[in-house]
Amino acid sequence: SAAEKDGHDWFMRKEIFEQPHAVADSLLGRRSRTGSLQLDEMRLSDQELRDIDKIIIIAAGTSFYAGLVAKYAIEHWCRIPVEVELSSEFRYRDPILDYSTLVVAISQSGETADTLQAIRHARTQRSKVLAICNTNGSTIPRESDAVIYTHAGPEIGVASTKGYTTQLVACYLLALYLAQVKGTRFGDEIDQIMGQLEQIPAAIESILARADEVYALAHEFAASTSFIFLGRHAGYPTALEGALKLKELAYLHAEGFAAGELKHGPIALIDDGLPVFCIVPPQGRDQLHDKMLSGIQEVRARGARTICLAEEGDARITPYADRLVRLPRVPVLLQPLVSVVPLQLFACELATALGHDVDQPRNLAKSVTVE
Ligand code: G6P
Repeated sequence: SAAEKDGHDWFMRKEIFEQPHAVADSLLGRRSRTGSLQLDEMRLSDQELRDIDKIIIIAAGTSFYAGLVAKYAIEHWCRIPVEVELSSEFRYRDPILDYSTLVVAISQSGETADTLQAIRHARTQRSKVLAICNTNGSTIPRESDAVIYTHAGPEIGVASTKGYTTQLVACYLLALYLAQVKGTRFGDEIDQIMGQLEQIPAAIESILARADEVYALAHEFAASTSFIFLGRHAGYPTALEGALKLKELAYLHAEGFAAGELKHGPIALIDDGLPVFCIVPPQGRDQLHDKMLSGIQEVRARGARTICLAEEGDARITPYADRLVRLPRVPVLLQPLVSVVPLQLFACELATALGHDVDQPRNLAKSVTVE
């Protein structure tokens, strides 16, 4: 009923709009009275965490993209090497695991069979397993050594939205916690990043307040049958997730690419009028923004219609953006928390405009309990 959906037409749309709340809830109670970070169900001692010299993140679907973002944050803040692997591939490559490997399983449902089998395998190899999960008491956290629960509340729509953004929060918390324990970042820096995370709900709110702009774009592009998404660094997983959402919900051909890989193949796909979403990193001291800009120029020169997601105040992007969606200003590593939101809105609106059931897309299941 509409009441269950809080006045929204679909659970998915309701869940997109719940994200400011869900993200805030996932951040709640993580700081102790002394200001240090605490994770309640960590259950791994500081010594066990200090012994970790490698992290392998395993997940499926949208959760896998949260893992890709986590790699950027953990390696940058903690200086621990991170691999990210699809659950379904993990066991079959005979992964190198031992007691100093931390396996992080990300699963909204906690029941995905491939991910469950992967953690069972990791534990037979004496690795520690930490679950990032949204479902209390589900199988994956029960079979793990430690857990960070996301507090998204029940997610009904088959395609993950608030499940994803809260997973990102949990990944950042894990990264900061490891940095605290390992001493790779000072307390005041961790504090500062926590402060930036605490600004994210308001940032997401500001995007949702302009949902109509994104909906108008969805109608404008409703006749397109193919979409490309480009990103780099932490924007790359967002590109993959934006494309996945269009496949899942609108049944359209959509591909996400690392912008730097364009010239190695994908640029051949560009032809007149092809819509290309470009996730533009914040303007920083690094060269990410410049590099992204040149990628955008390349696709545009070949006839693509660029839909750029770029932060407020980024004036350099305007000449190259056929359409522009403004993002609130956040640090580059946290940008995935905001850049995904317009892409969720876009896919939801486009799919409903095409007459599809976005809560129960064809052929898909909310949790895949078969291998
Ligand atoms: C299914 C769902 C996706 C989800 C994936 C992983 O494919 O349709 O939305 O991302 O499973 O699920 P999990 O519960 O393990 O995060």
